[in-house]
Amino acid sequence: MICIRGAIQAENTKQSIWQETETMLREAIQANDLALEEIVAIQFTATADLDAAYPAVAARKMGITEAALSCVAEMKVVGSLPRCLRMNLWVENGKAQKEAKHVYLGGAAVLRPDLAGGKSFAVAIDGPAGSGKSTVAKQVASDLALIYIDTGAMYRAFSLYCMRLGLSTEQEEAVLPALSDFSMEFRNENGQRRVYLAGEDITQTIRTQQVGQGASNVARYLPVREKLVELQRHMAQGKRVIMDGRDIGTHVLPNAQLKIYLDAALEERAKRRLGELRENGQQATLPEVTAQIAARDDNDKNRQYHPLRQADDAIVIDSTDMTVEEVAAAIEQLAKERM
Ligand code: DC
Repeated sequence: MICIRGAIQAENTKQSIWQETETMLREAIQANDLALEEIVAIQFTATADLDAAYPAVAARKMGITEAALSCVAEMKVVGSLPRCLRMNLWVENGKAQKEAKHVYLGGAAVLRPDLAGGKSFAVAIDGPAGSGKSTVAKQVASDLALIYIDTGAMYRAFSLYCMRLGLSTEQEEAVLPALSDFSMEFRNENGQRRVYLAGEDITQTIRTQQVGQGASNVARYLPVREKLVELQRHMAQGKRVIMDGRDIGTHVLPNAQLKIYLDAALEERAKRRLGELRENGQQATLPEVTAQIAARDDNDKNRQYHPLRQADDAIVIDSTDMTVEEVAAAIEQLAKERM
């Protein structure tokens, strides 16, 4: 059982108390990926200046019918935040307490600046291989002073780790035992993000088609995804980030302020990937790379857990006929509007 905290301010009317309670609950449900049946109990508190309605009514109206609900008065402390609703939301979902995502919204964000991070901001970019995510994300990160988190590099690092141990990435039972000892990190060196595995700089080593295909394989396994997603959320918490991958807007950062789904035609993506491979001194032909990217797309879109898909609130950008600068400028414009 875990307990999720939440807080939000309201006006002292029935409508506002119920509306803000609902917002707080929906945010907690979305951030923690909860099903209503997983909610065991909710204790709401209200400051003395909110006495127009019981917040629990809003929870019942949302269909939270089985959970035990209660409403109690918040302690009166001199100088404390006025018109504030708080909640303790108990959930039985098999997760550990450290995975709980607490929601301190609007004016109540000041109560836990370490969690709500008045300054935190996230841009999520998802899309298929070769759509230009990482090139564009690096550009936007540099222009808007955001931390760039390349989640594909994390799956690639685990793929390389398995390959070096001689484990077949196509067999879940072969790679899972390697997961507990696996650790990677990003380091900033001379203004560049570098990827490290056990003290070794693997930034270039993970850029081969073989490691990429292995990454797509290991990304199918739920325990691998759970471990890496936890790391990704930790890296983003309270910070200003731009994160790219396949499930960022749909799963890793569902509350990202800006979600982009970056796409491009298969032929164009294959040409770009071929260019990158050749720049890195690797041999390949266009038909080979096209077939490999099509296979990766198939793997990434049709896997069981957190497949690549466009989040409902994502903005789609088709980069087929756009330059990196044009795509970056479009994303920066949208990001600035939401900062
Ligand atoms: O973006 P990339 O090519 O570096 O990603 C390598 C593989 O990792 C990709 O085929 C699918 C997987 N991946 C994923 O499943 N989820 C992410 N968030 C990022 C990458």
